[in-house]
Amino acid sequence: MIDIREGDNLELLKKIGSESVNLIYIDPPFNTGKVQKRKTIRTSSDENGDRVGFHGKRYSTEIIETKGYNDSFDDYIGFLEPRLREAYRILKPDGSLFFHNDFREVHYCKILLDRIFGRDSFINEIIWAFDFGGRSRKRWAPKHNNILFYAKNPKKYTFHYDAIDFIPYRSEIAGKEKLKRGKKETDVWWNTIVGTNSKEKTGYPNQKPENILRRIIKTSSNPGDLVLDFFAGSGTTGSVCQKLGRNCILIDNNPEAISGMRQRLEPAA
Ligand SMILES: C[S@@+](CC[C@H](N)C(=O)[O-])C[C@H]1O[C@@H](n2cnc3c(N)ncnc32)[C@H](O)[C@@H]1O
Repeated sequence: MIDIREGDNLELLKKIGSESVNLIYIDPPFNTGKVQKRKTIRTSSDENGDRVGFHGKRYSTEIIETKGYNDSFDDYIGFLEPRLREAYRILKPDGSLFFHNDFREVHYCKILLDRIFGRDSFINEIIWAFDFGGRSRKRWAPKHNNILFYAKNPKKYTFHYDAIDFIPYRSEIAGKEKLKRGKKETDVWWNTIVGTNSKEKTGYPNQKPENILRRIIKTSSNPGDLVLDFFAGSGTTGSVCQKLGRNCILIDNNPEAISGMRQRLEPAA
């Protein structure tokens, strides 16, 4: 069951029962200070076109759609706090929260989450490392996101070690057996972003790769569990839940996100 709900998440969260959800993943706007926009363009062969491709062949481009949402907050922590308090109320006693953010605000968010969940409930900071786009000449180019993992009860929470993938050893020093078997992935996840030509690409700004959600949902929930994403965007969480046999509630206040999710998910829902 995939349940798509449109509206401000604070109001909609208040309608969800206490201790009813097994796993929450959220990827709120990062407070970049900009409107996040993605244009979808169509290219067609045109000898007077503005783009030049292989062998000098010319193409013209046409913008067919622009999707976006606001990402500028005067009081970002004040915006998040009541929503994260609702998240804590809604989580089952053995449930977990994964909070996706980046270098701009993650440290303030960690302090807020420690206040709501308790410091002992902080389990991991996962670093999602990617390599895409330009490099600043004035500082180290930021090429990672941070995902904070909290368990409501740090003594008893769902975590399937066996579901963690094996990754290859990088060093030739490892023996033949180890090289063949690989090693368990850690809290640093190397994964490309959703590429322009990727089959997953929806055109929604800041769409996250299914592989990131797959790791989280496989290890921190069971088949048939209920997962919640209340900053759902293009519905990546819902897509992975469908593939892994989890139920899912997806909330967003942007009508473009809602219609995109319906297209992406409802045929199979
Ligand atoms: C970074 S995007 C999420 C992207 C998503 N993880 C994906 O893979 O496509 C953040 C989303 O939060 C939504 N949003 C922002 N404020 C909201 C609010 N108060 N209530 C509901 N949704 C909100 C935006 O419309 C946007 O779609």
